[in-house]
Amino acid sequence: MGDMTSYLKFKTLLTGYRPYRLLQAAFDAGVFDCVGEEAVAADVLCRKVGWDEAFGCRALSALVVLGLLEASPTGFCLSKEGALFFGTGAPHPMGGTLDFEKRLVDSWDLLGQTLKTGERVYAASEKSEAEYKKDLAQYIDAMDEAARIRAAELWQLVKPDTDQGRFVELGFGSGAYSLSFLEKHSGWTGALADLQDVVGFFAEKRKHHPAFSRIGLSCVNLLDDPWDLSGCEGANLLLLSNLVHCQGDVETLGIVRRAAGLLAQGGTLVVHDFYRDRGEAGGMYDLHMMLNTYNGKVYTVGEMRAMVEEAGLSFAGDISLPSGSCAVLARKA
Ligand SMILES: C[S@@+](CC[C@H](N)C(=O)[O-])C[C@H]1O[C@@H](n2cnc3c(N)ncnc32)[C@H](O)[C@@H]1O
Repeated sequence: MGDMTSYLKFKTLLTGYRPYRLLQAAFDAGVFDCVGEEAVAADVLCRKVGWDEAFGCRALSALVVLGLLEASPTGFCLSKEGALFFGTGAPHPMGGTLDFEKRLVDSWDLLGQTLKTGERVYAASEKSEAEYKKDLAQYIDAMDEAARIRAAELWQLVKPDTDQGRFVELGFGSGAYSLSFLEKHSGWTGALADLQDVVGFFAEKRKHHPAFSRIGLSCVNLLDDPWDLSGCEGANLLLLSNLVHCQGDVETLGIVRRAAGLLAQGGTLVVHDFYRDRGEAGGMYDLHMMLNTYNGKVYTVGEMRAMVEEAGLSFAGDISLPSGSCAVLARKA
């Protein structure tokens, strides 16, 4: 029995690309734009998305097996699970994520070569200003879709001790974690810092959010020395989310040290990320960083503990989130 379970696990690993390829083909064809709660007849659906009817019906049946569609006597509709991510009114739309994933697949094609070379091989080609802005918007949209889900999980598990305080996030991206925190804790103010273009994007896109008026924004390159983050001082809770994997050990330790310096006495540092020793997602993410960044990497919880302690903070534990990431907590005495 044990052997069969192991083989099943191996086989799932071996053919892991198949569900993804089907999902991407269905998304690209527009299947999820054409189905909703009401069943759509298979021939109508195939015609709408430009699929051959006989082959298309088999693909639709495979989407049922994946749990994204449901079959009824009159056709196909979104399943309960599929409706979480697709269709009008989906609580967690994933269109941006699917668009972005295509770029990542290209980099994974170069894994073997990258492992031999010992440095990043996949590099984005030279871009015009307009292409760069478009790619940045796509990156932020994809991040936002995952961040909204994980932010709800994180703030369910990490709660401040007081009703009022100063929340700081360095490298805030779409701002989903900060907005979610500030929405939940109306007595808190926020100070958010990121690269200039990201700040500009956020200021434009989220200016109507109810918590926006409680937020101060700073443009900074966290690798610059010195950096001016006077607007972020006195943090009672400081978040580094998915930031420490963007660069190597030396730069990350520098960021953790400086973050510690921005904390108020008794303040908490939350380093939310993937960790190599906290599930499969962390190990895979490390390779994703190897392929797609100059020297980014994923740490173990022990390595992060050593960094926060080196920065003069006391390690206060780690919390795994239901969807696979993990938060390391540290306090300033
Ligand atoms: C992977 S995203 C994470 C965004 C957000 N915290 C989240 O968890 O969704 C990393 C963010 O850090 C920012 N970042 C990376 N390197 C940076 C640097 N050297 N200076 C400032 N921001 C940086 C990026 O612009 C991006 O917004």
